[in-house]
Amino acid sequence: MPFPHSRMRRLRRTAVLREMVRETTLHPSDLIAPLFVKEGLSRPAALEALPGQRQHTLGSLVEECGRLAELGVPAVVLFGIPARKDETGSGAWDPDGVVQQAFRRVRAEVGDRLVLIGDLCLCEYTAHGHCGVLRGETVDNDATLDAYARIAVSYADAGADVVAPSGMMDGQVGAIRRALDERGGADVAILAYAAKYASAFFEPFRHAAESAPRFGDRRAYQMDPANVAEALREVRLDVEEGADLVMVKPALPYLDVLARVKAEFGLPTAAYHVSGEYAMLKAAAARGWLDEERAMLEVLFAIRRAGADLILTYFAGAAAERLGRG
Ligand code: PBG
Ligand code: ZN
Repeated sequence: MPFPHSRMRRLRRTAVLREMVRETTLHPSDLIAPLFVKEGLSRPAALEALPGQRQHTLGSLVEECGRLAELGVPAVVLFGIPARKDETGSGAWDPDGVVQQAFRRVRAEVGDRLVLIGDLCLCEYTAHGHCGVLRGETVDNDATLDAYARIAVSYADAGADVVAPSGMMDGQVGAIRRALDERGGADVAILAYAAKYASAFFEPFRHAAESAPRFGDRRAYQMDPANVAEALREVRLDVEEGADLVMVKPALPYLDVLARVKAEFGLPTAAYHVSGEYAMLKAAAARGWLDEERAMLEVLFAIRRAGADLILTYFAGAAAERLGRG
């Protein structure tokens, strides 16, 4: 018997062979683009720590949504930045709030080609920047659930297809499901930020969304990066409360969590490749330290390989463009 008997390189010889035996796919239809829309903005504002991303006006948002739909990206997740914040974050359920207006405008101009997802949280709307209503210096879980329910209904009324609660309050999926079912939103799906970690990689987002907490941090509601059994419990609870899709966030540092969530629950599973993950690649690429396009594709394949059906990523447009070129 000649040595070696198994030659793995036989199937790596040409591009066509490699393509034939590829185990994981990546298509524009796997991607979801996060977008920021700011009330009262006169022109789109560049974001230093998120190169290529912007705070949008309603007009530039509609344009960007049309462009993404053309590229084959099937969904966007919208983050609103209100002109005024208050103690309870009441702008979040204003029927004429910036996100609610955005849903109506995008639907009117882009139609049903895009799935419209609303990130559902209070941190962009509260003066203190926490994801819920405060009692003293701590977030009051159950008072926050009432606010989340109102936001969900206002998103549904504005035409959202999916609401995505990201505040990590206990019972948030159940509270939102109940409110939607009772108040005309029975067909609106819930994408649960089920396992969301208290991560250093959210920093660029907090500038973009103007949502950094004014005091303290989010460790009393987001998860400890050291835990995985707890993540599985979080997901189980969200599934029991009626989540249609579940998410792990951030993505790359938590691929083990993602793989276990997909294997154990088998639900449509999303991963959020977050702002800091994007910023790291952009910063290194800008210095010529790595090839941006190759690094981007490698990362997105890794997240798919670990078990994500869907990836929320600031690379959605760029990746769809690249994949479209073949
Ligand atoms: C707010 C929210 C955050 C992100 C999405 N929704 C940040 C936070 O918890 O402060 C992070 C997204 C990113 O970093 O790209 N609930
Ligand atoms: Zn929040």
